[in-house]
Amino acid sequence: MMAILSINDVTKVYEGKVTHRAINQLNFEVERGEFVAIMGPSGSGKTTLLNMISTVDRPTAGEVLVDGVNPQDLSKNELAYFRRRQLGFIFQDFNLLQTLNVEENIVLPLTLDGMKVEEMQKRVSEIAAHLDLESILQRLPNEISGGQAQKTAIGRALIHKPSLILADEPTGNLDSNSSKDVLELLGKINKRDQTTIVMVTHDPIAASYCDRVLFIKDGEFFNEIYRDDQRQTFFQRILNVLSLLGGHVGDFSSVRLS
Ligand SMILES: Nc1ncnc2c1ncn2[C@@H]1O[C@H](COP(=O)(O)OP(=O)(O)OP(=O)(O)O)[C@@H](O)[C@H]1O
Ligand SMILES: [Mg+2]
Repeated sequence: MMAILSINDVTKVYEGKVTHRAINQLNFEVERGEFVAIMGPSGSGKTTLLNMISTVDRPTAGEVLVDGVNPQDLSKNELAYFRRRQLGFIFQDFNLLQTLNVEENIVLPLTLDGMKVEEMQKRVSEIAAHLDLESILQRLPNEISGGQAQKTAIGRALIHKPSLILADEPTGNLDSNSSKDVLELLGKINKRDQTTIVMVTHDPIAASYCDRVLFIKDGEFFNEIYRDDQRQTFFQRILNVLSLLGGHVGDFSSVRLS
């Protein structure tokens, strides 16, 4: 079966006063239904990589294929549609629109598509039930907790039933309980709907919720490990690789192992 994501010999060079090779001939694939964490020291190229997958940025060489499609081959309109339908984004700072309530934030991608109101309402009530947001749908972002804000952002990312969810430090601004909630929720979504998730994180506990952790260093592949049945032992193995990796990684963990 075709991988949902293929990174084929991807290099990213930032040109400037000093040229900087942020990603160097990177190769990996993500299979449909996987939940993958990407870890690496600060400056190792994680956000650069995510930006190329999300089409915010383009590779200097090599190609990124999402479900067999190279987004760089699409026209501007096709690309906008592709991003909305195929990709879901979750950010560290939630990125909610402050003037829209929770429900409106969740359906925003559908309103952009001009979907019928009844269909939108059906989707939003399904998602709200699944994410346990039903009682706060009418609240504004400044009237909800960080955990609820991130769940709202997850709802918005899911509303199109995207094939790939990209998350950059989704628990970076959450306390330990909310982080646990959000990670368990991502795990549930991944298992229930076979939604593929690629998550950048500094936090070894967050990474231990995934099926696989891919480590990069100086823009190159360093190592990857797969989870066994025990999250505890996977967590230990992640710590072992991080200690080999060096640099500033996972120096603070916001989630408690329990
Ligand atoms: N627009 C840019 N122009 C030039 N250099 C850049 C640019 N963006 C990033 N870099 C450099 O590329 C390298 C990789 O940066 P990137 O943001 O991908 O790292 P990261 O792994 O996400 O780090 P962090 O964990 O701190 O978020 C860094 O050395 C950074 O300084
Ligand atoms: Mg980054």
